[in-house]
Amino acid sequence: MPTAPEAPWWRDAVVYQVYPRSFQDSGGDGEGDLPGVAARLDHVARLGADAIWLSPFYPSPMADGGYDVAGYTDVDPRFGTLADADALIAAAHDRGLRVLFDVVPCHTSIEHPWFRQHPERYVWSDRDGPQNNWLASFGGRSWSCDEGSGRWYLHSFYPEQPDLNWRRDDVRAAMADVLRFWIARGVDGFRLDAIDRLMKDPELRDDPPASGPPALPEHGGCASLDMRHSRNAPDIGDALAVLREGAGDDALLVGEVYLPAAQLAPYLEHVDVAFAFELLHAPWEATAVREAIESGSDAGRVAWVLSNHDFPRLPDRVGAGNVRAAALLALTLPGPVFVYQGDEIGMADGPGREPPDDRAGRDRHRHPMRWDDDAPHGGFTSGEPWLPAIEVHGGGAAAQERDADSVLALYRDLVALRRELGEGLEFVDATGVLAYRRGPGHVVAINLGDEPATAPAAGAIVRATHARRLPAGAPAPRELASGEGFLALV
Ligand code: GLC
Repeated sequence: MPTAPEAPWWRDAVVYQVYPRSFQDSGGDGEGDLPGVAARLDHVARLGADAIWLSPFYPSPMADGGYDVAGYTDVDPRFGTLADADALIAAAHDRGLRVLFDVVPCHTSIEHPWFRQHPERYVWSDRDGPQNNWLASFGGRSWSCDEGSGRWYLHSFYPEQPDLNWRRDDVRAAMADVLRFWIARGVDGFRLDAIDRLMKDPELRDDPPASGPPALPEHGGCASLDMRHSRNAPDIGDALAVLREGAGDDALLVGEVYLPAAQLAPYLEHVDVAFAFELLHAPWEATAVREAIESGSDAGRVAWVLSNHDFPRLPDRVGAGNVRAAALLALTLPGPVFVYQGDEIGMADGPGREPPDDRAGRDRHRHPMRWDDDAPHGGFTSGEPWLPAIEVHGGGAAAQERDADSVLALYRDLVALRRELGEGLEFVDATGVLAYRRGPGHVVAINLGDEPATAPAAGAIVRATHARRLPAGAPAPRELASGEGFLALV
């Protein structure tokens, strides 16, 4: 009898996103660093995650929190050294954790040596001003004047992030080399930043005005245009094939494609999975969440994500009372799921810095990880943290470790249990609650509403959001309070 091909390691993986600047400082300068990440890997391993994804730690003037890369194959001194990166990869592998790095292929920092030494690698206007009406993601036009040459260059994001010209062979070859470099050092894959911006209209035509609200929320004013020419060109596959070639067939490629899931198909020809952003943005309401899951599932191989370093954290988005329900949802969906550092302890947003340090208001989602309530700055640093350490409703990780009914305990239990869930997902019709079956044996029911609601009939509880009220083995209740949910036997 032919045996089914073995599923890739990432098929139902839990990937833990580390934002290195805010995870753990080892040097006392108030910013997290790679040795700090290595020192905290046991926390990630105990959670049961399969892999870590690190947001950029490359040399960077930090105009965009590290997504303005001034050197692709090195480590910014604030984060450590290349040797620290090697040590981190080894330490993760020792714990059975795979490692994904973040590659930012669309643009460099304006301080990347290429911008002066190889200006031809970027996109320039042939006019004495902007080439067209395109708008940048975080506000303003996407063309700025280079003081040095007096010429105008394209930037899909901040002016400090000039876009590379992905129609050029030298750009493609250089970026494939970057992926090769890190693969040779042992990483297992990459999260590919903003790849819907790699390929634009070759004629750089104007974007037409938008005919309605954007399919996915935007940070800046670019939503006033229908961005049909400034991103997502039909020949995107040519660029992605180059990234795949550099990474090799065994590497996991996760695409950050900020498009509706229905438009992911050309990307999924080359990357293994793409984030499904509908779920990250869906209103916390049973029908909307169901539709978001359906659109992601229809798209094929999507990675589920409920929060990241760019958007409000879960208590701020879905409400503090729904943090556990969000964990139950994310961790019982089939397919890979990404957990942003701090979500596993229910961290909320905090105060950001003023512009120009933080122009798009995203600092609020990037506060230092809360480790130990008894230690200065929550155990994050012995120095002055770059963003204040903020308290967490249920206590820091150490306190939650000691509490079997903590949010952290819930995450850990669900990560372990998801391996026992059968394949596929089938919605169960229920009014007010979101309910679905996983394989023949399990059912999930979650009350996303503000009022008590009726759950479908189920057998014994396997894990509920609130273990004290609904312990494992107890019969599944027919009524769920707001924010409550269970994974139960059918
Ligand atoms: C991605 C990153 C975001 C960054 C942008 C530009 O969306 O997640 O943080 O600002 O790309 O690189």
